[in-house]
Amino acid sequence: MIAYQSQKVSYAYFVVALLLFPLQVIVGLWLASNYAFTMPQGLVNVFPFATARAMHTNLLVLWLLLGFMGGAYYMIPEESRSELFSTKLAYLQLVLLVGAGVAALIGFIFGWTQGRPLLEIPFALDLVVVAGALLFLFNIGATIIRAKNWTVLQGTLLGGLVFLALLYLFGIPFYRNLSIDWYYWWWVIHLWVEGAWELVASALIAWVLMKITDVPRQVVEKWLYVIIGLFLFTGISGTGHHYYWLGAPKYWLWIGGIFSALEPVPIALMVWDTFRNVKERQGKIVNPVVWLFVVGCAVYHLIGAGVWGFLHTLPQINYYTHGSQVTVSHGHLAFFGAYALLNLTLFYYCFPQLKGFERFKQGAGTWGFWISGIAMMFLGLAFGVAGVLQAYLERILGLGFMNAQAQMQFWFKIAIGAGVIFLVGVLIMVVDLLALKPETAESG
Ligand code: HEM
Ligand code: HEM
Ligand SMILES: [Fe+2]
Repeated sequence: MIAYQSQKVSYAYFVVALLLFPLQVIVGLWLASNYAFTMPQGLVNVFPFATARAMHTNLLVLWLLLGFMGGAYYMIPEESRSELFSTKLAYLQLVLLVGAGVAALIGFIFGWTQGRPLLEIPFALDLVVVAGALLFLFNIGATIIRAKNWTVLQGTLLGGLVFLALLYLFGIPFYRNLSIDWYYWWWVIHLWVEGAWELVASALIAWVLMKITDVPRQVVEKWLYVIIGLFLFTGISGTGHHYYWLGAPKYWLWIGGIFSALEPVPIALMVWDTFRNVKERQGKIVNPVVWLFVVGCAVYHLIGAGVWGFLHTLPQINYYTHGSQVTVSHGHLAFFGAYALLNLTLFYYCFPQLKGFERFKQGAGTWGFWISGIAMMFLGLAFGVAGVLQAYLERILGLGFMNAQAQMQFWFKIAIGAGVIFLVGVLIMVVDLLALKPETAESG
């Protein structure tokens, strides 16, 4: 049961996010087919790989951000103990962002793109996104300021969101010098996922843990200070792991290597803290599946971002793996573990309350978690093997790109297999959440 009526806006954000997620995955399957099989040229001419890739990644960023925003609109009223400043503005913001998203997807098909991976959307749409982001920050900020009940959790969330919005601005201009252009491109890409988003994630995870256990607020907040300090310290200096080969000064090899190697530390602390809080639950859990997602998210975050990131972060290794399918392997495991699972945790925690009941049947959520989680591991491993093969064939044996690709096709076929199973897991969760019903006496 929700305590504040305005929390309901989060439902609309969550539903849109849940619909975009399977769409993103289907486009992913199409992408993998492009690698696994030789497509007829006529098809490639009308629907190029780069167009599908832009759809896949932009859909990802859009649904994840809508989920975070919905999560913020759910959490802030409870934390600030007041209704949101304006639900109308919140809906207007959703319309703007979804409108920009739809326009971008259609635009990509017709070649309306800036071309830079992940930041493809054209300047005009950037302005709409900025307007949406400003509305969001204004609404959240005004709610907090008006309510005057500051907490560390709100501060962290708001800090992360402001940082996130500011960084986006660096990706808007185009610099004619490509080294400089990529230099700032990474301010958005790296400092988002390894900086701003980590702050948002820490605040949301800490809040969910606090809500579903008996752990006192002071304990959660003390831990947040440490984690956030470490995230900022290692994440910001760790940007250097992207400056090895783009024409930046040589000292980045050292800075990037050493500090990014420390990035798994705050992530490991998050796992440790999650387990510590789990022990505090004292019989309070209502929906065990929410636990499964919180713990799963923490562990998968450590594997995908921490372990898989560490594997290729030292310049001695990155020299061989840079921009190969090893990177793609890490990109999938990290995004899924850290941010897709975080969103799913929020959905499973918030949905029953938004729909006005406490307990629901846990079966589908549990199946969805395991099927998607294991299938994503296989998908990541298939990309990983293809990537190691690629690094060996291209960078040690010196084979040309297409000759190496021919040897990798088998692993992309495996990726399609894992991807289809992954899609099944995703659909189970989406249908389960959208149709979530209270558990009745007989069904329990
Ligand atoms: C949740 C956090 C993370 C996410 C979502 C994430 C995601 C990604 C993605 C999508 C890329 C590919 C970007 C591109 O070239 O298009 C990438 C690259 C990279 N990531 Fe992460 N990452 C995370 C954390 C980490 C951590 C903690 C480390 C190091 C310990 C790391 C190390 C790297 C490195 C070295 C590259 C560059 C690979 C190359 O040279 O091709 N990442 N990451
Ligand atoms: C059926 C499932 C999926 C398949 C088959 C798939 C396949 C692919 C392929 C083939 C690429 C292009 C790689 C390249 O440019 O060489 C890609 C890119 C990407 N996908 Fe997926 N994908 C799937 C699901 C997902 C999910 C669930 C996420 C996130 C949670 C995700 C995140 C990404 C990211 C971040 C990139 C860019 C990676 C980079 O730049 O290194 N994908 N995907
Ligand atoms: Fe990075």
